[in-house]
Amino acid sequence: MALVTTKEMFEKAYNGGYAIGAFNVNNMEIVQGITEAAKDLNAPLILQVSKGARAYANHTYLMKLVEAAVEETGLPIALHLDHGDSFELCKSCIDGGFTSVMIDASSKPLEENIEITRKVVEYAHEKGVVVEAELGTLAGIEDEVNVSAEDSSYTRPEDVQEFVEKTNCDSLAIAIGTSHGAYKFKPGTKPQLRFDILEDVSQRLPGFPIVLHGSSSVPQDFVAKINKFGGNMPGAIGVPEDQLRKAASMAVCKINIDSDLRLAMTASIREYLAEHPDHFDPRQYLKPARAAIKDMVAHKITDVLGCDGKA
Ligand code: G3H
Ligand code: 13P
Ligand code: ZN
Repeated sequence: MALVTTKEMFEKAYNGGYAIGAFNVNNMEIVQGITEAAKDLNAPLILQVSKGARAYANHTYLMKLVEAAVEETGLPIALHLDHGDSFELCKSCIDGGFTSVMIDASSKPLEENIEITRKVVEYAHEKGVVVEAELGTLAGIEDEVNVSAEDSSYTRPEDVQEFVEKTNCDSLAIAIGTSHGAYKFKPGTKPQLRFDILEDVSQRLPGFPIVLHGSSSVPQDFVAKINKFGGNMPGAIGVPEDQLRKAASMAVCKINIDSDLRLAMTASIREYLAEHPDHFDPRQYLKPARAAIKDMVAHKITDVLGCDGKA
């Protein structure tokens, strides 16, 4: 089995009412933790690499780690560029063996977003690579913004048909209230995704795969554990998992999760080192950290995404 694109995965996910997990990878233990969980559960997988991850770990190292995971697991795995910010970065990942790229020109005016996305799609499709684009910017719910300013960052359903027709992109990330990082919603507030926008978008794009970024749930026991063992994270809450499950049953075929893996890994390392202050072999604290990532991904696959058994 070689790396695959997301085409077939998304078709099956759309029709089956589930979503594929897209997990960010930065090093070997993260790749192993994610792929071991997926293997145990026979789940299809998207491993995604940000510009920062590529700068941290180097394109070739990440490529080879993911190729090793494909060989070890035999699973359908897509290797995806997360938040590509230029044609050149997308081209470099396409030329370097990625099977999927995201061009994120969502902060640009619509016409400019269309133009750069179309350019990336033309290049990618020639090479058999698929492209995710984004319309709308993820809400900064923590900011003191009034309702109309907040509303303006949600995806406008009336733009999506024109955007997809003109760019020919393969999937579309939309903004319905999720946001990146561990500090999504103020403690005490009640997060509510805009399912009306998702419904409207999917009616305008029948059969078309939708992507949700910023979908970590920020489990409170992990935040508490980090703080118990010397951390100092302010109050933070994420996207309720029942709302992600609902999105996965609708047109959402790809759900991006990074922060929850960071929390799991960091909580584990802090706990281990606090309990073993004399240990200094990285294998000793990275082993439970890798297992913590595996547990987190297994939970997401079975309880949130519903893609277990779908490889
Ligand atoms: O959405 C961004 C991902 O969580 C990747 O974050 O750019 O710090 O690697 P990063
Ligand atoms: P989280 O920060 O919610 O994990 O989102 C990750 C993401 O969207 C990567 O593109
Ligand atoms: Zn993202």
